[in-house]
Amino acid sequence: MEESRSTFFFSAAAVIFFLLVSSPPFSTAQLAPTENRILFLVQQFLEYPPSLQSWNNWTNFCSTPPNPSLTIICSDNHITELSIVGNKTSPSHINPKPSPSNFAVSDQTLSERFSMDSFFTVLTKLSNLQKLSLVSVGLWGQLPPKVNRFRSLQVLNLSSNFIYGEIPHSVSTYQSLKSLILSDNLFNGSVPDLSELSFLEEVDLSSNYLGPEFPSLGGNSNLARISLANNSFRSEIPLDLKKLSNALQVFDVSSNRLVGPVPSFLFSMPFIRYVSLAKNQFSGGFAPNVSCGGDLAFVDVSSNLLIGKLPACLSPNVGNKTVIIMWNCLSNTTSKYQRPTSFCQKDALAVKPPARRNQNDGSTLKLGIVLAIIGGVVVVLGLLGFLILVIFRRVQKRRGSEYKCDSFVFEKNANPIRGSPLGRHVPQPMRMTSIGLPPYHVFTLEEMEEATDNFDASNLVGEGSQGQHYKGWLRDGTVVLVKCLKLKQKHSPQALQQHMEVVSKLRHRHLVSVIGHCIVTYQDHPNTASTVFIVLENISNGSLKDHLIDWRKREVLKWPQRMAITMGIARGIQYLHTGGVTGNDLKIENILLDDSLSAKINSYNINLPSKVGAESPLNGQDPSNQTSIENPEKEDIYRLGVILIEVMIGRPVNSQSELDDLKFQFERSLAESPSKLRDLIDPSMRGTFAYESLKTVVQITINCLSKAAAGRPTVEDVLWHMQYSVQVQEGWTSSGNLSGNLSGNLSNKL
Ligand SMILES: *[C@@H]1O[C@H](CO)[C@@H](O)[C@H](O)[C@H]1NC(C)=O
Ligand SMILES: *[C@@H]1O[C@H](CO)[C@@H](O)[C@H](O)[C@H]1NC(C)=O
Ligand SMILES: *[C@@H]1O[C@H](CO)[C@@H](O)[C@H](O)[C@H]1NC(C)=O
Ligand SMILES: *[C@@H]1O[C@H](CO)[C@@H](O)[C@H](O)[C@H]1NC(C)=O
Ligand SMILES: *[C@@H]1O[C@H](CO)[C@@H](O)[C@H](O)[C@H]1NC(C)=O
Ligand SMILES: *[C@@H]1O[C@H](CO)[C@@H](O)[C@H](O)[C@H]1NC(C)=O
Ligand SMILES: *[C@@H]1O[C@H](CO)[C@@H](O)[C@H](O)[C@H]1NC(C)=O
Ligand SMILES: *[C@@H]1O[C@H](CO)[C@@H](O)[C@H](O)[C@H]1NC(C)=O
Repeated sequence: MEESRSTFFFSAAAVIFFLLVSSPPFSTAQLAPTENRILFLVQQFLEYPPSLQSWNNWTNFCSTPPNPSLTIICSDNHITELSIVGNKTSPSHINPKPSPSNFAVSDQTLSERFSMDSFFTVLTKLSNLQKLSLVSVGLWGQLPPKVNRFRSLQVLNLSSNFIYGEIPHSVSTYQSLKSLILSDNLFNGSVPDLSELSFLEEVDLSSNYLGPEFPSLGGNSNLARISLANNSFRSEIPLDLKKLSNALQVFDVSSNRLVGPVPSFLFSMPFIRYVSLAKNQFSGGFAPNVSCGGDLAFVDVSSNLLIGKLPACLSPNVGNKTVIIMWNCLSNTTSKYQRPTSFCQKDALAVKPPARRNQNDGSTLKLGIVLAIIGGVVVVLGLLGFLILVIFRRVQKRRGSEYKCDSFVFEKNANPIRGSPLGRHVPQPMRMTSIGLPPYHVFTLEEMEEATDNFDASNLVGEGSQGQHYKGWLRDGTVVLVKCLKLKQKHSPQALQQHMEVVSKLRHRHLVSVIGHCIVTYQDHPNTASTVFIVLENISNGSLKDHLIDWRKREVLKWPQRMAITMGIARGIQYLHTGGVTGNDLKIENILLDDSLSAKINSYNINLPSKVGAESPLNGQDPSNQTSIENPEKEDIYRLGVILIEVMIGRPVNSQSELDDLKFQFERSLAESPSKLRDLIDPSMRGTFAYESLKTVVQITINCLSKAAAGRPTVEDVLWHMQYSVQVQEGWTSSGNLSGNLSGNLSNKL
């Protein structure tokens, strides 16, 4: 009895002793007490984020089940993994993104009291930590060099915080580091040498302000993923990256200012899957013998200064690869949105280091001469083409109803369509390559869904009277506009299809062209169409009206640019008139400009066949309006005259009386003096035109605005006058009257 009692007391004392030494009680069977205390300090430092709020003296950290916002893994009484995901936002979700110099503490960061240095002093006492993730917790300040005290760290993931300053050089001493993830912070300056980290598998430094030198990564033979996107790297890609070929899978350097040749060697690496070089200033051509690795699935080289041909293995239709190439100057591709070669050559010269620029002067000069010759040839060919068109049109008129749509895109259904004003003489489409449009395509609903990301609201760009307009991306990277037309009346898919076949032939570089369509029928009534999707090329640079109203955009439009634009409009009209498409509702809001300021007529007059009635897919105009215009061809000429006036005075004309007054003043100025005319035109155009050139355009404009339709010129007359005006202007420019960059490569554009 006595003995058992003393045993009891002994045991009780032991239990109490045990409880006393292990603070707090009952909870720390597995975790060393100091680490327990560190976790509470972390909770305090991070200002009690939602994922840590439930921690108290009874929490057993090592046995809390992992969840997406908190993971703690222990081994031998020590924490080996700590992952905390907070609910703060990241810098790139703040608009504008803060920079290292204007960072300010806010409710999206930890408070003023927070100190990175003290925090890491505490944290680095978790000396067995192998994986540390602190994501979106609002850390701010500089990363202290003492981070290297983690001796066995393998994963450091501090993404989506507000850490600024340089990445400390001490990270290069983590011998066992596999993943270094510092994306979406405010780091600036150069990246420390990471080439000694031989276990490194993944580096993600995207969305910081790092640069300008490309980091040294060549020695990391296990590196599988490199993301340096959205930084300020400005150098060339070092060739020692070739050494990464036995592991590299993902390489993303998009949105930097990288220069020099395309690192073609990347594409042929054996395990490479994803390469993005987009939005840089890579220049020159691809090596002709580039081969592609078998796993390559995604390549984006868009928005660079690349010229020449795309290597065969990167052609959009080879294998299952996604290849995005728009906004370069590549030549043999069907992709839309390539810039003229001169754009890439000009800019490539400008981004080269100054030391090399001298060597290029001779070739620039030669390039200039070559371009001038090409320009001349283009003008001559243009005139020849025009003559041929006129003859062709005459022949067509004579042949009348014999005309067959033999060059049709849809060979199998190529019946001429009767009852449609377009059926008989649709002009030959320009050769596809010459306008860079993809071949006409009948899309499936699945393709429409894929292009618009399932008609995602973020791709909605507008709403017409009959349905929504979406921005979309085709597989080859072409950006398109998808107009969705919900049909209110009954239409047979065959009738619509026939109409679309006619529409499909209207392709010209000065029209917003239809690239394809998709007809959807009701599931239970396969003979009734429910919806038509019209896929148009996407012209993103705004309308002519936008350019005249916004003074910054207007400043860019000197006389040569304005002539190129109006000449483009006239050519578009000529093409439409050749095909009998008249009454085109021409106005400056319906003229869109692309990135090279080339004009494209939007909303030209195409009505669905009479059965389809008022459902006009492209412009939603009521056809009854059209028939009320007596001479729609001459109406187009009148509207062209209005556009010419607006372009010359640099603003929209708001009323008929203002227009009549302007016409009168222009007439008087021709009769009186050059200075009168100079006073009338847009001041931002002064000094950029040859008087004779402007005068020629004013004369033809006044003719276009004749009250009597019969007094108005044909579009061919207008074009002849404008061509003459261009020649006068070019003579004036080449005799040194206008500085080079203002002359705007006129012959190149026409
Ligand atoms: C944990 O225990 C300590 C002392 O034992 C006490 O001061 C503290 O308030 C407790 N914390 C919580 C969250 O209960
Ligand atoms: C984060 O959570 C806290 C506590 O639940 C809340 O007060 C705060 O508004 C949240 N912040 C954000 C950005 O959701
Ligand atoms: C960083 O950690 C967060 C949270 O664990 C995770 O969601 C994210 O994928 C990690 N980032 C990388 C690049 O592994
Ligand atoms: C980083 O940004 C800070 C603040 O703007 C600036 O003072 C510092 O010079 C920058 N460092 C480098 C290396 O650019
Ligand atoms: C780069 O920034 C853009 C715009 O903020 C973003 O859409 C894109 O996802 C970023 N890229 C990467 C790889 O972080
Ligand atoms: C491509 O050609 C260059 C020189 O013409 C050569 O150095 C390179 O090894 C070739 N690459 C391949 C993949 O054949
Ligand atoms: C471009 O030209 C190269 C060489 O002539 C050819 O192999 C490749 O298939 C062409 N690409 C396209 C898209 O036509
Ligand atoms: C393309 O992908 C499909 C399925 O996604 C697959 O069956 C086919 O083999 C792939 N083709 C090539 C050339 O990789």
